[in-house]
Amino acid sequence: MTTTGVRIWGYGAAVPARRVTNEELSRRVETTDEWIQERTGIRERRVLGQGESLALLAAQAGEQALAHTGLTPNDVDLILLATSTPDDLFGSAPQVQALLGATRALAFDLTAACSGFAFALVTAAQFVQAGTYQNVLVIGADVLTRWVDWGDRRTCILFGDGAGAVVVSASPVNHWLGWDGGTNGQDGHLLELAYRGEHYGPVDMNGREVYRFAVTTVPEVLAKALHRAGLTIPDVDWWILHQANQRILDAVAQRLGIPPAQTVSHMGDYGNTSAASIPLALAEIASQGQLQSGQTVAIAGFGAGLSWGAAIFRWG
Ligand code: UT7
Repeated sequence: MTTTGVRIWGYGAAVPARRVTNEELSRRVETTDEWIQERTGIRERRVLGQGESLALLAAQAGEQALAHTGLTPNDVDLILLATSTPDDLFGSAPQVQALLGATRALAFDLTAACSGFAFALVTAAQFVQAGTYQNVLVIGADVLTRWVDWGDRRTCILFGDGAGAVVVSASPVNHWLGWDGGTNGQDGHLLELAYRGEHYGPVDMNGREVYRFAVTTVPEVLAKALHRAGLTIPDVDWWILHQANQRILDAVAQRLGIPPAQTVSHMGDYGNTSAASIPLALAEIASQGQLQSGQTVAIAGFGAGLSWGAAIFRWG
């Protein structure tokens, strides 16, 4: 079967205006800036304020990504919104479509927590490879600060809000190299935002077990995706992993022998932004001119489900 080439280009990022520092949190719960930085690498996070919403952040990131490609909203065939925290449980992607004025586009949400962006990127690539669509806008956006218990120091220190986006398009030259992923519903109880009788939430996590899962599964899924791409570790220019915890990133880098300078880390400023963290980090290095067209990128998302996914592609 012949397939269409895929390119990944255009980047966008949006975060709420309000910063919440560790020091501010230490006035709400029994914690310290020192503990949070040492255990997670997080210094501050952005928190959604009045007049802001998941859909607005997502649309802002999406608009920027389109602007970088020169495509117009009318060129978009599909909007995939990776989020676990929509403004509306029926889905926020239609609202994003309306805000962007992308009236031709089919738009739907894809829910997979911190793996959401990786799964959405894979889904977009499949639609393009199959020749179904030319241009897919992939947005990762989450506002988990709406869903944490601000009295639970084990979880409220971790999360921040944000949105990031890329465009996946049909191309004569294929830049989509390989991917792998998995799900383990048996251990889903380790990280939940579940319906509890009268309402959802709050976020409930067994941090130690999720940590253990992450440091073993992420190196494995990256190695599998690389194998499928026919590449080895030195072939990759940038490693953009879900920003859950600096210690997880360090452990993965050590296991795979990745030079620290090739990993992207921004959780100090934004905390764990769930589905937004990978495209936000990508947008950061792209906007700084560090990520160059033709470079090879490896991404990996992991988290609730439990779920995990990695993808390898050439940028631009
Ligand atoms: O994006 C989704 C994926 N999520 C993750 O990847 C999260 C993975 N897990 C983690 O990042 C870490 O497990 C945490 C950062 C959540 C916690 O770090 P830890 O080193 O695993 O700490 P712990 O849960 O083993 O707790 C150690 C101690 C406990 O006290 P005791 O029982 O030893 O007396 C906690 O009660 O630290 C205590 N503690 C805190 N102390 C100060 C827990 N949270 C805090 C806090 N401030 N915020």
